[in-house]
Parts: sequence; structure tokens; C-alpha cells
Amino acid sequence: MHMIATDVDDSITKLKTKLAAETKKPNRAMDPYFYRSHLVHDRELEHIVFKSWIYALHESELPNSGDFQLLDIGEDSIIIARHTDGELHAMHNICRHRGAAVCEDPCGNRATFVCPYHGWVYNLDGSMRAAREMHVLSEFEPHEHGLKKIRLISYMGLVFINCDPEAADFLGPLSHLSEPLGAYRLEKAKVAYKKTYRIDANWKLVLENYLECYHCATSHRAYARLHTLKDLEENVRPVLDAMLARSDEITGVPGMSTSYRKIYLDAEGFGACSYTSRYGLFDGYVTGSRDGQPVAPLMGSIQAYDGGAGDYQMGPLTFMLNYPDHCVLYRFLPRSVTQTDLEIVWYVNGDAEAGKDYQVEELIWLWDHTTQEDEYIIMRNSKGVNSRFFEPGPYHPEFEETLRDFVHWYLHSLRSTLPDELRD
Ligand code: FES
Ligand SMILES: [Fe+2]
Repeated sequence: MHMIATDVDDSITKLKTKLAAETKKPNRAMDPYFYRSHLVHDRELEHIVFKSWIYALHESELPNSGDFQLLDIGEDSIIIARHTDGELHAMHNICRHRGAAVCEDPCGNRATFVCPYHGWVYNLDGSMRAAREMHVLSEFEPHEHGLKKIRLISYMGLVFINCDPEAADFLGPLSHLSEPLGAYRLEKAKVAYKKTYRIDANWKLVLENYLECYHCATSHRAYARLHTLKDLEENVRPVLDAMLARSDEITGVPGMSTSYRKIYLDAEGFGACSYTSRYGLFDGYVTGSRDGQPVAPLMGSIQAYDGGAGDYQMGPLTFMLNYPDHCVLYRFLPRSVTQTDLEIVWYVNGDAEAGKDYQVEELIWLWDHTTQEDEYIIMRNSKGVNSRFFEPGPYHPEFEETLRDFVHWYLHSLRSTLPDELRD
């Protein structure tokens, strides 16, 4: 990765000036400042990312008491563990003594978390079990020194976390997706494969790429052959209308063709976006695979292929693209100013067997291939955006509408973090 220069004169006042300038050109790409500034990066982690609902894992990945996984966001590490009572807990991987990480392994099974530094011991729910020799400190209260807890909810087996104790409710917004999403029986699904793509670009560039399909026709030939999303809606309206008209009946799922959209500034609560719609595949194709033909058994209660795919958003950073035979989840996590982890998780029916009911290579081919193409264009995008000579151009009004909505929300959220005396 090429390094970007640090602006030693960066300041809150400069951020305010840059934010004010953005309001004068609301339908253009953002100023390079927002992708380069370390001050912006720190503020967006604190005020946007750590206040948003974020997908962590699927319940089936931690089936037993003591099972855990780590989730890395920015410079932070979060432990998700299953307690002996069967409940899942999320907590910061930071010892309450002098701050060492209490767990290094990315996943595994433990009875307790023991800090390697001075040996403080924590239970699977983060509560303190023992602090070696601390009884000599008379005012020391073990129950006040548990690992810091993180909000956690489970929805259809999908586990989401939020580091803000005051975070808005998320189950309410998600409930609007229940009809179409319920058909996949995700709570009984299994993770067939998952892969983290570490991309050398700012997280907003990686996410913005996902939020628009203007680039699909030019960058994703295999995808574009199957999916109508790469075309202007007026050109594919007949294909869409025909699919929507037959979808509920053919799939046997009332509400399969439902649309719902409350994302970003319209979300019911901060960081609690919720969205679904169903879009069409071109005639002759029924799923997102190399040749558009099935790669796994039909999921959940879906009875037949309708030539459609379900598009979902859950929170600002998590998305799903659900075909009748498999689901593909995307999660975007910033790691540094110039590095992003994009995780893709492929789900199939819980009872489907690898090698018999599906071949992993065929299951993941389309989106692995498409994501490698994305990686290529995002890194080139990053190179140009990081130039001080980049002058942002206009968004396409239809293809880049959701991307624009994200940018409006992002800038609005940053603006609301300014101290009162610096707000307009
Ligand atoms: S830092 Fe963990 S026990 Fe001291
Ligand atoms: Fe793409």
C-alpha cells in the first residue's frame, strides 16, 4: 500500500470548514480529506462505527458453552462467547487491570479468560472470577472489574453487536424484514464458507463500491450477465415486474416480494438501518452462480426458484444478497485509515452436506470472483482519491442514489460530533 502523508495542521476547525464545503455540493463525491484525515478516522470510529449495529457471527458458529470468537474493529478487539447458561455475551478484550488483551486466539473454547499479564481471571460472561492477591486492597470490588460489556442481539441466528450502551433498538427495525427473510430459516442455516478480504483502502471507499452498481457493467462481466441491477430500471422493468408478480406464489412465501427501506438518515434509530427488496435475474438464470444454475438445495421454506434475489441491509455496514439456494452476507469493518476488512459469509441450509449437496468452490465462485474484481477497482479508486489533485465529480442520480444517502448520513453524523461552538 502506498503511504499517505499526514496533515500535521489537521484540526477540528479544518473538519468544520470541510464539512461546510460539502453542504454546497450535496450530489458529488466527497472531498479527499474525508478519506485521508486521521482526525476524521478517529472521530468516525468513536461516533459512527462504535455506535452502529454490526453483524458479528452466526449462532451456529458457537454451539457449545465456552466457544468464542474475536471480532476486530479498528484497533479494537471484541470477544463473543457462549456462557455456561447457553447465552451469548460480547465484551471488550481488554483486561480491567492494566489493559492487556485477555485473549489472542481468533476462536476456540475456554472455561475462562485468563489475562496473560498478571493473571486476572474472567468468566465467559465477562464477570470477574479472580484477581490474584488483590484482597490486600481493602476497597477492591471484584464485581466492579468485569470485562466491559457490549450490547448483543440475535435475530434469526444472526448475531449483532453495538458498543454504545445507549444504542437504539435494532430488533424493531429488523422485524420489517421478517416476512421475506424468515423464508430462508437462517436460524437453522449453516456457514458453508467465510472469507475476509483485507483491502488497502479506506472503509468508505469499500462500502461505497458496494452501494452502487454503476460499475457493475464495466467491472463485473460474470455478475452483469445474470443480474438486472446493472441496468437502468426503466430498461429492465418488464423483467422485474414479471418476477415480482410470480414471486410469492412460486416460492410459496407470502411477502417474498416485500420492499422496505429505512436506511441511513431515515433509519428508525442511529446505526439501525433496515432494508429489503427483491430484484430480478435475467431470463434463464435462477441463482448467483457461475452459470446462474442452482448450487445448493433450496433454503428454508422456499419451494421453487422465482428468478429473483433478495437484497437486505441490516445496520450501516451489513448486507445480504439472498438467492433461493444460498445467502451471501457482507460486512465492512474499518481497520485503519487505509485498510478495511470485508468479510463475506456464504450460508446454506443447515442439513446440506459439503461435497454432496453443494461444492464449496461452485457455491462461492461468483462472489469471490466479483469481490476480487472489486478489490482491484477499489484500490485504484483509493490511489486517485488520495491525491491532493482529485476533484470530486457528480453522482449518477439513479445508480449512485444509495451511495449518496450513505454519504449524506455520514457527513451529517460527523457534523453532529462537532463541539457546539463549531456547529452552524
Ligand atoms: S493487565 Fe491483566 S492482569 Fe494485569
Ligand atoms: Fe462491485
